[in-house]
Amino acid sequence: MKRYKICVIKGDGIGPEIVDEAIKVLEATSLKFGLEMEYDYKLMGGAAYDVFAEPLPNETLDSALSSDAVLFGAIGGAKWDNLPRDKRPESGLLKLRKGLEAFANLRPAVIYDELVEASTIKPEVLRDVDILVVRELTGGIYFGQPREKTEDSAFNTMTYTRAEIERIAKIGFEAALKRKKRVCMVDKANVLETSQLWREVVSEVAKRYPDVSLEFMYVDNAAMQLVRNPRQFDVILTENLFGDILSDEASMVVGSIGLLPSASMGGKVGIYEPIHGSAPDIAGQGIANPIATILSAAMMLRYALNEEKAATCIENAVKTALSQGYRTKDIAAYGAKEICTTSEIGDVIVKIIEQ
Ligand code: IPM
Ligand code: MG
Repeated sequence: MKRYKICVIKGDGIGPEIVDEAIKVLEATSLKFGLEMEYDYKLMGGAAYDVFAEPLPNETLDSALSSDAVLFGAIGGAKWDNLPRDKRPESGLLKLRKGLEAFANLRPAVIYDELVEASTIKPEVLRDVDILVVRELTGGIYFGQPREKTEDSAFNTMTYTRAEIERIAKIGFEAALKRKKRVCMVDKANVLETSQLWREVVSEVAKRYPDVSLEFMYVDNAAMQLVRNPRQFDVILTENLFGDILSDEASMVVGSIGLLPSASMGGKVGIYEPIHGSAPDIAGQGIANPIATILSAAMMLRYALNEEKAATCIENAVKTALSQGYRTKDIAAYGAKEICTTSEIGDVIVKIIEQ
């Protein structure tokens, strides 16, 4: 029996309820495939601040570093919005990414046929959309020094080194090799020096991948093209801030933000989490959609634990549940035969896995 240690961070808002469902699904999958999971539950974000006065306590980072993977829900809420920046829940997540050197953020945006109507974009524009945003996650303006805010002015620094760009570019090209073999690098090279360096380095890396085509696109145009004709994209490779913005846009293009998982990897230990946030407004009501977190657990099985069969099993079970018409409230308007609570949809997916 294979054993894995998973650091589980539920976080704030709907985090705890959606992570509970992912664990339920992981347990059923582990039983089926003979895996043994040890879960180490730790705090981060607002929940950690309330106990430790720190959004990322040392014991959480230590647990993450000694685990095979981190499964994470979501953080943040109005309660902590007025704290100084380094005490805010978001700072905990940024420190965790940095501490684990999780520099590559993979955010797939895939259209589910059953949910085409859930997008605000016309169905014919959406058919077959399958985009992977590869976002650099531990550099750029998020972390650049110096940074400062005074009463009358403020500034941030956007900085990238050749090495930082090269390692994320490789991830992008490797991912493209397993897909439609197209990379679109998004930048602002008409204005920013960092973008010029990105173009140089990415062009060099591209030479090692002759089967993958490379195109460059300015970020303003990319934002427009994503809603005009999303099918043109395969892998979108981009820096931290642009990737933050474009991945939210891509997730809404496919209309099901509650369904999209993500992986932050490349370093010591990977973090697997839904794309959506902590949705404090619906927390505790049992209506949150746990599917993005369940699919994040599948990504964890695939990328961190190399358990491809178990990962596919979860993904297929989710597809089956959707095609049988099981829906949480957020997607209830589209082809629902049965409206489920958070834990009911988890149970449905578990039953399908057990069959
Ligand atoms: C994301 C989030 C984070 C980010 C926040 C919570 C710091 O928006 O994961 O996309 O900006 O990276
Ligand atoms: Mg974001």
